[in-house]
This record gives sequence, C-alpha cells and structure tokens, in this order.
Amino acid sequence: MKAAIYTRYGSPEVIQIIDTEKPVPKPNEVLIKIKASSVTRADTMMRAGRPKFGRIFLGLFKPKNTSLGTGFSGVVESVGSEVTEFKIGDEIFGEKLFSNGCNAEYICITEDMVIALKPTNISHQEAAPICDGFLTSYNFIKEHAKLKKDQHILINGASGSLGVAAVQLAKVLGAKVTAVCSSKNSDFVKSFGANRAIDYTKTSVYNLPDKFDVIYDTVGTLNYKDTKTILTTDGIFMTPVLSRKVMWQMLWNPKNVKFEATGIKKTEDLKRLLKELINLFEEGKLKTHVDKTYILSEIVTAHQHLDTGRKVGNIVIINP
Ligand SMILES: NC(=O)c1ccc[n+]([C@@H]2O[C@H](COP(=O)([O-])OP(=O)(O)OC[C@H]3O[C@@H](n4cnc5c(N)ncnc54)[C@H](OP(=O)(O)O)[C@@H]3O)[C@@H](O)[C@H]2O)c1
Repeated sequence: MKAAIYTRYGSPEVIQIIDTEKPVPKPNEVLIKIKASSVTRADTMMRAGRPKFGRIFLGLFKPKNTSLGTGFSGVVESVGSEVTEFKIGDEIFGEKLFSNGCNAEYICITEDMVIALKPTNISHQEAAPICDGFLTSYNFIKEHAKLKKDQHILINGASGSLGVAAVQLAKVLGAKVTAVCSSKNSDFVKSFGANRAIDYTKTSVYNLPDKFDVIYDTVGTLNYKDTKTILTTDGIFMTPVLSRKVMWQMLWNPKNVKFEATGIKKTEDLKRLLKELINLFEEGKLKTHVDKTYILSEIVTAHQHLDTGRKVGNIVIINP
C-alpha cells in the first residue's frame, strides 16, 4: 500500500510517499481502508519538529515515528478475533492521536481508541477532520469554559479548523459570538452563525468596548494580560496553542487561563465528547468546512498550503 512518511524534520518536501506492507490487524484491532484523512496544523508541526521542545517527545534529532496523519474516515475491511464493537463494512472515523499513520491507504487501530461509526448524513471527507477542530474546540468550550446560553465569547482565528468549529459549537450552546478573522473571511464566519466579525488587521480586539465571558484564542496571537480589559471579572482566556507565556500565566491564574493538549486527555473522555458531537452532526447542527482536497501523491502541496497560515477550515486527503 502507499503511505506518507517523513524521516527528518523540515519543510513539506521532507515528505515521501512509499510502498509499504499492508498492515494486518492484531486480535483487538480493526483494519480500515482509508477513504479520507486530514492534514492538520499538528501534522505540520510534527513534520517541522516545531516548537523545538516538542522533539523531546517526537525524537531529538529525527522523528521516532515516521508516519503522518492523525485523523481518518474509512471502511472496516477486516477485524481481529477479539473485536466486538465493529464489523466488516462499517464506515468509521476518528483519530490515531500521536501514533499517526492516517495519510495512507490502510491503517490498523484498536477498537477502544477514539473511533466511532461515521454519521450517515456526512461524507468521509467531512468526517476525517472532526477530531481536530470540533473535538478540540468542544473540549475547550464545554469542559474548560462551560459556556452557557447568552454568554458572550470572542473567537480569535474564527476561520481556521478550530475556529469554524468553535463558532458553530458556541451557537449550539446559545452563546453570542464575536468572530475575529480578516475581512475576506467575515461573511464566511457569519454564515456559520457568528453575530459579528472583527477584522484583526483593522481593529485591535484589546480596544473593543465589550466585556467577554470567554476569549478563545485558537491561533495563539493574543496575550491574556492585554485581554483583561475586555474580559468579565471571572472571564476565561483559553488557547490551544502552548507557549512559555501561556504556561506562566496559567501558573499564576489557573482559574482564568486555560490550555490543554486535547490529544492527551483520557480516551474515555474524548469518546464521550465525540459521541455528543456525533449526535449534533446527525441532527444537522454542525457542518465541517473543507477548504481543499488533495490526493495522497499531492500531500507535499497540502502541507505547503497549510504552512501559509491562510487555510480556511480543513484540508483533506482523499483516496479515490
Ligand atoms: N491544544 C490542542 O489540543 C490542539 C489541537 C488541534 C490544534 N491545535 C492548534 O490550534 C491552532 C489552530 O489551528 P487551526 O487549524 O484551527 O488554524 P490555522 O490553520 O492555524 O489557522 C488558519 C486561520 O487562522 C486565521 N488567522 C491567521 N492569523 C490570524 C490572526 N493573527 N488573527 C486571527 N486569525 C488569524 C486565518 O485567517 P485569515 O487568512 O483571515 O487571517 C486562517 O483562516 C494550531 O496552532 C494548532 O496546532 C491545538
């Protein structure tokens, strides 16, 4: 089978497509024929080996795990002898977390991982990126912010994968949404329910007259200290982007500043959140936005597009 790998850190050109053995499922694994897989910011960061402290986990001088791709959607082709939850022909989606390997034609995954039956009303390409934007943003908005009806949330980077998901999730929970993105994406974020859009190239959010209950900085460009004037007294500042500054601010303001690497949350908690998301997709309340699709042999171009920092929503690799 074909699979994307990287054997050294660097620009998108370090990625190669190789021919490798089709995996064979262990007793507790399912073999999935991948129909679509995501290419996310996390994938590009692993490929680049940045931020450099991440190499403590990824491999100091070169990646320990050379496979790429965390999110997938596909069809179960065979199951191990101990598998009870899934059967041949099931359409399933999910993520392989840090073990990667989804940018390929097949993967094996244990049935207790963050995987589930794909909602029948969405396509494989809409399902593959759900565990990036939707699962991460749901974890922040529901578990950390505990966002309530009529609260006001500011979402910075509202046109990215996490941002578009966050706008929709905040609306589902009944909150008022101020979305921050460039003006070319302002109608786009409003089409997903944002009450208004602020162009960060023209207006500094720090000067807004509003008081927000929650600020969700999906792209990590805001500074908690500077947002204090636009946060309510108990307001929460959350970001999925880790930096030394955020770590320091969390230490001194644990109730108000939140970061979490969603992927290292307990699998049972992720599965519970995913189940709730699936219900919302089935009810037609959420929609994945796919910016561009590529085939596996074009994965270098897909990574190049992500590296521009301008993608809108999600990037997906499809296996025709
Ligand atoms: N902690 C976790 O568990 C976790 C999980 C998943 C992802 N992440 C991280 O979350 C981050 C966001 O990922 P993503 O895929 O949603 O987004 P992304 O691809 O990094 O962001 C793309 C979007 O950000 C907008 N943008 C760029 N600069 C901006 C700025 N200064 N202010 C406001 N918007 C700006 C762009 O819109 P314009 O073109 O309009 O500027 C574009 O639509 C990444 O750093 C990723 O590594 C963390």
